[in-house]
Amino acid sequence: MQDVPFIPELSVKPEVTAFFDEATNTVTYVVKDPNSNACAIVDSVMDIDYASGRITYESADKVIDFVKANGLQVEWLIETHVHADHLSAAPYIQQKLGGKIGIGANITVVQDTFGKIFNEGTEFQRDGSQFDRLFEDGDSYEIGTMTAHALYTPGHTPACMTHVVGDAAFVGDTLFMPDGGSARADFPGGDAGVLYDSIQRVLALPDETRLFMCHDYGPNGRDIQWETTVAEEKAHNIHVGQGKSREEFIQFRTERDASLAVPKLILPSLQVNMRAGEVPTDARGRPMLKVPVNAF
Ligand SMILES: [Fe+2]
Repeated sequence: MQDVPFIPELSVKPEVTAFFDEATNTVTYVVKDPNSNACAIVDSVMDIDYASGRITYESADKVIDFVKANGLQVEWLIETHVHADHLSAAPYIQQKLGGKIGIGANITVVQDTFGKIFNEGTEFQRDGSQFDRLFEDGDSYEIGTMTAHALYTPGHTPACMTHVVGDAAFVGDTLFMPDGGSARADFPGGDAGVLYDSIQRVLALPDETRLFMCHDYGPNGRDIQWETTVAEEKAHNIHVGQGKSREEFIQFRTERDASLAVPKLILPSLQVNMRAGEVPTDARGRPMLKVPVNAF
């Protein structure tokens, strides 16, 4: 499990542009091939005012404007996992710019779990067919002349993957910046021990690998950051750095998770993101979200 099932190509250096969404502390990335106009977009954000049920696209439009201004061709819309804290804008961006929407093949596990919690009918497919591509561990795909690799890194959720492109890795919520530690592992299907093992997989990449976070919360008042390296995480990560043991991590993570509040947008996020970013509809075809009572 800790072996990386491909040979990292450190000489390939994708051009990475980050877009930070202040409302959800999410970082969206445009990952461009230096040798062509091809790019991928990782973890896009659709804006929601949950109190009013209003959905808008300011965040996604910034990314779309950047892609258009630079004449880029979107080949992939990658979701590192089913996010519980923001809604994906992948279908909106796909409609405007094209590209295939991809996620880890274990999306089917997530769909099964939350299909039950949200009491979705039989019309909700739990086979991942809402996505254009389901990645298995070690699968590769092309972004222009670059080869990208999907690395299975579950624990935060069952479908979490890290996407490695040349010397860059997009870790989703597998890791935070060194002073942020790691993401929670207490959602249904999450597991602290499995998350520890997945983090070791990321740390098995070459030391100089650039790591790009999906989130940053600016701990202790520092400015927002989203990029670090494997070497920095190994040396300084407050949850797993300096060879912290699996047992220590599980104990710490479990205690910490018990004290965390439920993410503000978990209910709309899961319903939308398990459908590849499509808003569910009611029997009359109107976009509609549910609130299951006492389910979380
Ligand atoms: Fe997440």
